[in-house]
Amino acid sequence: MTAKAAVSETERGDTPDDLMERIVNLCKRRGFIFPSAEIYGGFRSTYDYGPLGVNMLRNVKEAWWRSMVQMRDDVVGIDAAILSPGQIWEASGHLSTFTDPLVDCRNCHERWRADKIAGTCPNCGSNNLTEPRAFHLMFKTHAGPVEEDSSVAYLRPETAQGMFVNFLNVLQTTRKKPPFGIAQMGKSFRNEITPQNFVFRTREFEQMEMEYFVPPTEGQKWFDYWTSERMRWYSDLGIPADRLRLRNHEPDELSHYSVATADVEFLFPWGWDELEGIANRTDYDLRAHAERSGEKLEYFDQATGQRYVPHVIEPSAGATRTMMAFLIAAYDEDEVSGDKRALLRLDPRLSPYQVAVLPLSKNDALEPLSREVLDLLRSMCICDYDVTQSIGRRYRRQDEVGTPWCVTVDFDSVSDRAVTVRDRDTTAQVRVPIADLVTEITGRFRR
Ligand code: GAP
Repeated sequence: MTAKAAVSETERGDTPDDLMERIVNLCKRRGFIFPSAEIYGGFRSTYDYGPLGVNMLRNVKEAWWRSMVQMRDDVVGIDAAILSPGQIWEASGHLSTFTDPLVDCRNCHERWRADKIAGTCPNCGSNNLTEPRAFHLMFKTHAGPVEEDSSVAYLRPETAQGMFVNFLNVLQTTRKKPPFGIAQMGKSFRNEITPQNFVFRTREFEQMEMEYFVPPTEGQKWFDYWTSERMRWYSDLGIPADRLRLRNHEPDELSHYSVATADVEFLFPWGWDELEGIANRTDYDLRAHAERSGEKLEYFDQATGQRYVPHVIEPSAGATRTMMAFLIAAYDEDEVSGDKRALLRLDPRLSPYQVAVLPLSKNDALEPLSREVLDLLRSMCICDYDVTQSIGRRYRRQDEVGTPWCVTVDFDSVSDRAVTVRDRDTTAQVRVPIADLVTEITGRFRR
């Protein structure tokens, strides 16, 4: 059996909405992403990650952590608190500036971000909109039993500030010196006016951020370095070149802390949109926190006797948004022996299951050996085990969720101790001795 050439979105006659609908349906039907609180009618703009989604999201974050922390000796990780006091957000400028311009349509009463709609209501087409007013995006709560001004706390709207406020702790405990970075991934919260496009913009999401502290004269050099490193990360994990681009911000687009920002953009079904921003934050944050806290957030270079406030280059990506981009880029349809199939051509490192172990049929004779093969493989990668339905249907089910390799245990396997390894993309099958299986699968990861 061989797979026919893939069908492109245009050849399928897909509209952007069709492709999004396919992805959203697949995510719900196969347990990637569920609308949150669905049995209560849903809670708009939050999503729950199901058994396959949680595997894939972990793989996206793992791939980021591996390239940003594990494989480098100049970056260390932290995991700072989500719940945080107002001083952090006063110093960072978020309490005064982290707003979006909100307008109401006087005709249909929908609410919009003024900067996204060019003066016309996307719902009813009316131009009768209110004047924009600043809407604050942070979630505010109270820490402790009494709701008073002194107990006000915030859910972090970015992970970045946790790294700035721990600058001295990390410097003192790791003895790193600039250039060095602190990385963190985790949940952030923004009360978005118009959450939209599935998990592209939600009120609760995950970020993967790194603050890279450099001598003040080296900002541009490291900004250039990190923009190309980050582009490489997306390409290496399978985003095709024609769906990926770098776009420099115009001066009037820059955030309050940035002197230069470049966005890594992905071609979503609705057009180019941001996956990640790489910003030159200068010494803005360390100076602001030093002033507010009274702590000296500086680096003393013993070799030169110089004391300085490092500048910061920040690659800041969304984990949930990036996972969605990987799903969109991987979605494909082709034909196998006259049958149509949908598949996710995911990089094996990102697939929710990396191997599916499939006994040819539900037969007692095959179970012990199939379980043996499963135990052999599951210590090295994420495995599924499926005995239901015909083998052909099980292959399709695995293709649809992006499992790169199916390992089939058949009746010959019991005597020859060999299994069939089937490739998702080509559907090619090879016979492999069980004794060589780990080497075979490990080798395929590297290809
Ligand atoms: N520390 C800088 C910062 O937070 P940002 O551009 O506001 O910069 C960085 O956010 C990344 O976080 C974005 O490129 C995007 O991938 C992700 N992100 C931001 N808001 C999001 C939201 N409401 N839903 C999902 N992802 C979001």
